[in-house]
Amino acid sequence: MTVAGILRAAAAAALLLAGSAAGPLAHASGPALDAARAGPCVEDPKLMRRSHPDFLKHGRDDTVRKGIRGIRHSLAACVDCHASRADGRVLGSERHFCQGCHDYAAVKVDCFDCHASTARPAATAAAPATGGAR
Ligand code: HEC
Ligand code: HEC
Ligand code: HEC
Repeated sequence: MTVAGILRAAAAAALLLAGSAAGPLAHASGPALDAARAGPCVEDPKLMRRSHPDFLKHGRDDTVRKGIRGIRHSLAACVDCHASRADGRVLGSERHFCQGCHDYAAVKVDCFDCHASTARPAATAAAPATGGAR
């Protein structure tokens, strides 16, 4: 592993371990992220911090390979609920929910090459309707 790789892995591990003492969005040394629009999360937030990649991948397999709809760990639903109240997005700055934490942890996520990073209009009461695709 390269030095950068080791630092990256350490940052990701620290981030995943942090937060049990502090409130969910007030990590002692973590990023300050946009608060969710509603609640609760589809899983306990502590579990979600650690396991959301696995949940999302299982959800994708259920839908894309097995044709199951209305799954519990829908990516579109994450975006609807975690999108900024200001602009309806989960990407865009260090405060935006998905980007802010991934930038902090130096984790690259390619899902939004295809998936919308903007909440769907029906779920976007507080934000301008900028359309589903990015
Ligand atoms: C109905 C709203 C809702 C949905 C849908 C939802 N969440 Fe959450 N999520 C929350 C709330 C509320 C919290 C607690 C923190 C907060 O208030 O923002 C949370 C917390 C989290 C956390 C921990 C954040 C932290 O800083 O500790 C992660 C990670 C997360 N959610 C990812 C996801 C993912 C991935 C999905 C889709 C599979 C998803 N959430 C779906 C409402 C939601
Ligand atoms: C090359 C394009 C592409 C990429 C990249 C991609 N997906 Fe998808 N994904 C799709 C398509 C197409 C569907 C099926 C259509 C739908 O239901 O939106 C889908 C469906 C899903 C679903 C079920 C529907 C939903 O909204 O929950 C999940 C979960 C999912 N993908 C997760 C992911 C995750 C996580 C990543 C990144 C690791 C990712 N996808 C990357 C194209 C892509
Ligand atoms: C509290 C911090 C945090 C938040 C918020 C967060 N993530 Fe993550 N995410 C991580 C970390 C850290 C990893 C790397 C985990 C690992 O390597 O085990 C990761 C990994 C992922 C992966 C797997 C990437 C891969 O290629 O294996 C996906 C997919 C993902 N996140 C999607 C999301 C989505 C979508 C959101 C917003 C709804 C989100 N995450 C919000 C911290 C976060």
